[in-house]
Amino acid sequence: MRQLETYDQSDLQLVKLEECDLGAARAFVLSVASGLSRPEFFITSDIDSIFERLVCREEGLVYAFANSGQIVAMQAIDVVALQHCDLTPRDLLSSVKNCYESTLTLCRPGCRRKGYSSLLHGFLLRDSRAMFGARCQFATVHPDNTESLMLYSTLGYTDIGRIIHFGLPRRLLHRHRE
Ligand SMILES: CC(C)(COP(=O)(O)OP(=O)(O)OC[C@H]1O[C@@H](n2cnc3c(N)ncnc32)[C@H](O)[C@@H]1OP(=O)(O)O)[C@@H](O)C(=O)NCCC(=O)NCCS
Repeated sequence: MRQLETYDQSDLQLVKLEECDLGAARAFVLSVASGLSRPEFFITSDIDSIFERLVCREEGLVYAFANSGQIVAMQAIDVVALQHCDLTPRDLLSSVKNCYESTLTLCRPGCRRKGYSSLLHGFLLRDSRAMFGARCQFATVHPDNTESLMLYSTLGYTDIGRIIHFGLPRRLLHRHRE
């Protein structure tokens, strides 16, 4: 894990996940996803290929908050997907169907509602814009995943429609940046 900054006065560190972290990242994802009330809220079947693309091929950024090397919350930005976002919401809605979800947002139970996912989102926006020039983005969320819908709403995303993603219904959320 490459430490980027120390968060607040706590032991929590903002880290960028690298190739050597993928085992820990995978274990974190599977652990949190296995505790979800509905498995369709978070699709894990492609997790290895997504990490390979985002981290090893550098087609995105995966950040986490970690405490003594243990991941507490994680989130990703998929730069390939972001490139589609210069489209209007209408065009985006019709073109996004075969793309990966733009962010992998997960927080360990017991650490939720502390602002970690929102903070990760802010760091990812800052750095992806600086590194890749990304200016707007989208996310896909299961229509019944109220927590995630609330998070993205709080982060300024607009719900622009329903799509089928990995064979499952998803709300397509879109956000422009300044
Ligand atoms: C969705 C999730 C990532 C949110 O992570 P988090 O770190 O708890 O989110 P934050 O603390 O940054 O929340 C920011 C805001 O989002 C909204 N929000 C988040 N969780 C909420 C909940 N359970 N109920 C209502 N609003 C919620 C609130 O507005 C919150 O601000 P507040 O706490 O000041 O009211 C987390 O609940 C999670 O890991 N869920 C399971 C995995 C998942 O479904 N991931 C998304 C897949 S698309």
